[in-house]
Amino acid sequence: MSNIYSNTEENIKKAAQVILDGGLVAFPTETVYGLGADVYNAKAVANIFAAKQRPHFDPLISHIAEVDFLREYAATDERVFALAKRFWPGPLTMVLNRIEENPSIDLACSGLRTLTVRMPNHPTALALIKAAGVPIVAPSANKYQSISPTTAQHVADGLGDKVDMILDGGACAVGVESTIIDLTGKNAVLLRAGGTAKEDIEEFLGEKIIVSSGNPDLPTAPGQLLRHYAPKNTLRINIQNPDNDEFYIGFGKYDGNLNLSKSGNLAEAASNLFAFLRIADEKAIYGKIAIAPIPTTGLGLAINDRIKRASYQK
Ligand code: TXA
Ligand code: MG
Repeated sequence: MSNIYSNTEENIKKAAQVILDGGLVAFPTETVYGLGADVYNAKAVANIFAAKQRPHFDPLISHIAEVDFLREYAATDERVFALAKRFWPGPLTMVLNRIEENPSIDLACSGLRTLTVRMPNHPTALALIKAAGVPIVAPSANKYQSISPTTAQHVADGLGDKVDMILDGGACAVGVESTIIDLTGKNAVLLRAGGTAKEDIEEFLGEKIIVSSGNPDLPTAPGQLLRHYAPKNTLRINIQNPDNDEFYIGFGKYDGNLNLSKSGNLAEAASNLFAFLRIADEKAIYGKIAIAPIPTTGLGLAINDRIKRASYQK
């Protein structure tokens, strides 16, 4: 029996109760589907790691529906509230300093002195968080290092009965994970390129964002691991002339078996990326995938980041 439920008001209420009872609910956000648990329930949070087979504890993003949660737990200032006002709800995640001792959220924060938080721009996600009345911690609802899910079926394919309920809210509009910026210091630092363009944040802040080079052996974010978001087949990127035995994912004028966006629209390309990687994984008869060149501006930065990691071979 499938554990996918349509996102009716009644099912959202039911899912909120599952969360409050310490269960795991996969839910749609505008970026990718998340695997959610009650931020205050350490056992449920631990179950997230088990379900994903993430090798070690690693801080999770708290998803909130109101900024008030921030005031209680995080060091906030005008910059934080201004960013929240401009970009939330939306695919921007902020890493903030925690204030005071709040052991109840220790596990969600992996015992770090920082709290990582965002407000997702999806009516089902917001309704679920409000109905539960607690922030919901959620990594992407996929097994460790595999392709992030952008439909309810992707979640079911990857996690199956390890999740109590999957709320179906259709395909994710953005399609790549949120942009993560670290605001614990004076200057904003980009930890992960994502659904909010770096240029838009820079323009709003009136300053350049430092890009964290990251240490792949000791990543601040597993998204910084060299191999991540990986399909089963080999993947070559930046390819204008694919080999005959390669399944070719095109972009713009480089047309292929699939085209991320015929008109060269990067938002459209981002929303198709993970689903196309899954299709390519199934259809590449010779086990080889190639992807056309994608510009590195706007959402292209996140797309290139993901495909670079997906193509990494030891
Ligand atoms: O779009 C998204 O952000 C999706 C949806 C579900 O909201 N979530 C998501 O979560 O991508 P996850 O766990 O797959 O990626 C969150 C990343 C991880 O790489 C984690 O290491 C990093 O955020 N992270 C979380 N807290 C951090 C912190 N305090 N310092 C540095 N990195 C942190
Ligand atoms: Mg992930």
